[in-house]
Amino acid sequence: MTLPGVLLLDAASPESGALARAAAARGHQVHAATTTAAYAGYGPELKGLLAGHIATDFTQPDRALAEIAAYARRHGVGAVLTVNEYLTELAAHLCAELGVPGNDPGRARAARDKAAMAEAFAAAGVSAPHTVLAQGETGLRAALADPRIGFPCVIKPLSGAGSAGVTVVTGPAGAAAAADAARTTAGMYGGGGDGRVLVQAYAAGTEYSVESLTQDGTTTHLAITRKQVTRGPKRVETGHSLPIHLPQAVEADVYQEVEAAIRAAGIRNGASHTEVIVGADGRCVVIEIGARLAAGQIGFLIQHALGLDVWAALLDVALARPATLAPTARGYATVRFVTSPRAGRLTSVCGFPTTGPGVPFVRWRAAIGGLVHKPGANGHRLGSFVVTGPDTDEVEERADALLRRVRIHVEPVPENTGQVRPASTSAIAP
Ligand SMILES: Nc1ncnc2c1ncn2[C@@H]1O[C@H](COP(=O)(O)OP(=O)(O)O)[C@@H](O)[C@H]1O
Ligand SMILES: [Mg+2]
Repeated sequence: MTLPGVLLLDAASPESGALARAAAARGHQVHAATTTAAYAGYGPELKGLLAGHIATDFTQPDRALAEIAAYARRHGVGAVLTVNEYLTELAAHLCAELGVPGNDPGRARAARDKAAMAEAFAAAGVSAPHTVLAQGETGLRAALADPRIGFPCVIKPLSGAGSAGVTVVTGPAGAAAAADAARTTAGMYGGGGDGRVLVQAYAAGTEYSVESLTQDGTTTHLAITRKQVTRGPKRVETGHSLPIHLPQAVEADVYQEVEAAIRAAGIRNGASHTEVIVGADGRCVVIEIGARLAAGQIGFLIQHALGLDVWAALLDVALARPATLAPTARGYATVRFVTSPRAGRLTSVCGFPTTGPGVPFVRWRAAIGGLVHKPGANGHRLGSFVVTGPDTDEVEERADALLRRVRIHVEPVPENTGQVRPASTSAIAP
């Protein structure tokens, strides 16, 4: 019997690689839909795993949908997955077109466009910060004068990711520059640039994400993740840890809000990553939802801490097979991201960990001699490593100690003309 083929929309990230390996190991033919430029960057291992690929242009979603659907039909594709946030809406439409398990295409925009998300959350009664869509200078002034916004507030692009172009603004003086940053932040496949930005009330508290898997409309929460985030105007994630256990009532409230957000975004079959902030009073607000597995190695943290084959589970959901979601381990895992304290040219790195017992995953992605940035977006990470073990405190201490050992040297450059890479949901895009 020929097994259905598995199609990945963009296979470049480590998470996509893990999915491709898991599908191939189960005997599926694995295909990728990608851009010509991205395919050129795929490594030999990934290219060797692929039974085929279709080069397409994701900036033209209607054409991409038609081309990929035709390719999928020709190649017996029975499952479509993506871990690329920018492609989740296309994935929902493609699944519907092919009649394979996926999300509601009529709602999929709500997990991608933050204005649509705010509307969907408001309509579904999800607790979320008050959000105003502001067009131009007049719109910005009106939004800042809205008593439901106030200061600090957050100005962000409509469809960014990875914290790119998001600024916490503490007073009117910083608002215009923050709005410019949001307006000029291009997504991975273009978009934006139409003068609109979102102005959002600031939610004070501790930031978590909830990693969930939904099958036939029933959601299982795999873990709550605590995020380490920089303070100040640019909130960049510097680490994630899981599983986190919150007081029972708080956890119940978080899950209730997350489930409402999942329904509002039409997530019926697939992973989701919902970011929440829990205030000092224990109340939770939903910051955003992604209709995909979390980036930033969170899939690997789940695998190592909980002994859960997250890749197999994602494939099962995509193939309409019952997914196994029970943890088989009671460990803990954390990832640390190495960032540069200043902008300049990276001249050397030493002390970056290697894999070994308790350090199952390391990845360095910054080129020596290349330009680096002060962390302004998740795409500015230089490298990452995962630490895992049975004891929460020991794992955190070891991760901090390993991070302290990393020494990077950055030379100032007179005029840092390096372009910020497009916002990527893949923490370590190649
Ligand atoms: N309303 C808010 N209140 C407080 N912090 C926020 C708010 N919105 C965003 N942030 C901070 O900015 C970060 C990036 O914003 P987010 O909306 O998640 O954009 P992205 O899609 O780029 O990840 C969040 O992880 C959080 O630290
Ligand atoms: Mg986010």
